[in-house]
Amino acid sequence: MSIISITGGQWGDEGKGKIVDHLSANVDIVARYQGGANAGHTVYIKNRKIILHQVPSGILRADCHCILGNGMVIDPVSLVAEIDMLKQNGIQTKGRIHIANTAHIVTPVHRAIDRASEKNKAQKIGTTSRGIGPTYVDKFNRRGIRGHNLAEPNKLQDMLKRRLQDAVTHGELFDLPADAVEQELSQFFECALAISPLVTDTFKFMQEKLETGANILIEGAQGTLLDIDHGTYPFVTSSNCSVGGIANGLGVPITTIDRRIGIFKAYTTRVGEGPFPTELFDGTGRLLQETGCEFGATTGRPRRCGWFDGTLARYSAKINGFTEIALTKLDVLDDFEELKICTAYKVDGQHTKHFSEVLHKLEEVTPVYESVPGWCEPTTYIEHFDELPARAERFIRILSDLMETPIKFVSTGPEREQLISR
Ligand code: GDP
Ligand code: IMO
Ligand code: MG
Repeated sequence: MSIISITGGQWGDEGKGKIVDHLSANVDIVARYQGGANAGHTVYIKNRKIILHQVPSGILRADCHCILGNGMVIDPVSLVAEIDMLKQNGIQTKGRIHIANTAHIVTPVHRAIDRASEKNKAQKIGTTSRGIGPTYVDKFNRRGIRGHNLAEPNKLQDMLKRRLQDAVTHGELFDLPADAVEQELSQFFECALAISPLVTDTFKFMQEKLETGANILIEGAQGTLLDIDHGTYPFVTSSNCSVGGIANGLGVPITTIDRRIGIFKAYTTRVGEGPFPTELFDGTGRLLQETGCEFGATTGRPRRCGWFDGTLARYSAKINGFTEIALTKLDVLDDFEELKICTAYKVDGQHTKHFSEVLHKLEEVTPVYESVPGWCEPTTYIEHFDELPARAERFIRILSDLMETPIKFVSTGPEREQLISR
């Protein structure tokens, strides 16, 4: 029996889907603990690209059960579309997807509130418009709709009618007409009913599997700097994406997790608004974006790109207690003659290595860089650590030292097999 967690170390899109897919070969369960359809986890299998939003990436392994944990916010319409997509790709989902009966439900009302508030608020977050924030608001306001409500059509209709009326009364839809939301309701009810048989006591399910010695992989969504508590607030998502969120979002005590793997890109990206100290606005930034194909898997938005930020990464490693790191997209740096790594920040004429000290005023910091020569040779098909170019090995060592955590995996391409481990 083992429990391993996979968590994004930066601002999301680090390549969690790929690493989960790789590690799920021998596990019985892959479980998500937070977020919802704002996630976009890409897995390539023999040139076939599959993007998962709510279903854990373990669905691509035939014997693996997939849990959508109580800390998630589930969108039935999007989930039905995702299950259809999986079927079209020949992936059998029957009996393998289990939704927590206490997970909260995203409805067309929540999506509309998200869209309307992004359009009308002076301070935009750049959300994915998937209704994530408004659904978590209802959860914490103790008036949410939960998984078990999906099998109660009459009650669900009443709850939703009341929620729409409240949204209108309190101006949550701004100038969006209520009719526009009403038009989406019949499809919502259809999908809610369709997925209601998947709703179950996932806590009991996991406990029973653990008693038989099952291996569990826990799949984080988003990344530590998007965490509602530890991230770059208010430019964050509305859940605890860091390891701390696992205990609440699945009922799995942190002390039972044997390995906590942090996923980091060999550089940094961010989608949406918010501060980003190492962001590059020049040709180098564009080169990272083009070479790394940095376009959002959920919204298609271009991702902002910059150098690896060691100050941020060390903070992230500490917040999560990572036992090891998987470094992804090393191949994207293959042709760069010079690489930079941020080792500290300069602010108010002083140097600091403490991210938490400047978290509230990141706009004011200037990164302090260490320059290292690039390796200028392909890493894409390397199979062992000792075959990496010496300069790539040195780059990896610097990153590992900055994070004070061993780098156990290096990913050198999007395909399942393009992963070196030690
Ligand atoms: P996630 O949200 O953390 O699962 O990451 P995304 O799927 O949103 O974005 C990661 C992107 O990088 C996807 O398109 C992956 O196919 C791709 N990817 C993952 N690892 C590597 C790698 O090592 N090299 C390259 N070139 N692409 C990678
Ligand atoms: P994965 O799991 C990258 C960002 C949005 C926005 C902020 C809030 O694929 O790594 P939300 O819709 O959650 O209220 O948006 O968070 N964001 C992500 N950025 N990867 C993600 O997920 C993200 N999910 C949300 O762009 O800035
Ligand atoms: Mg993603």
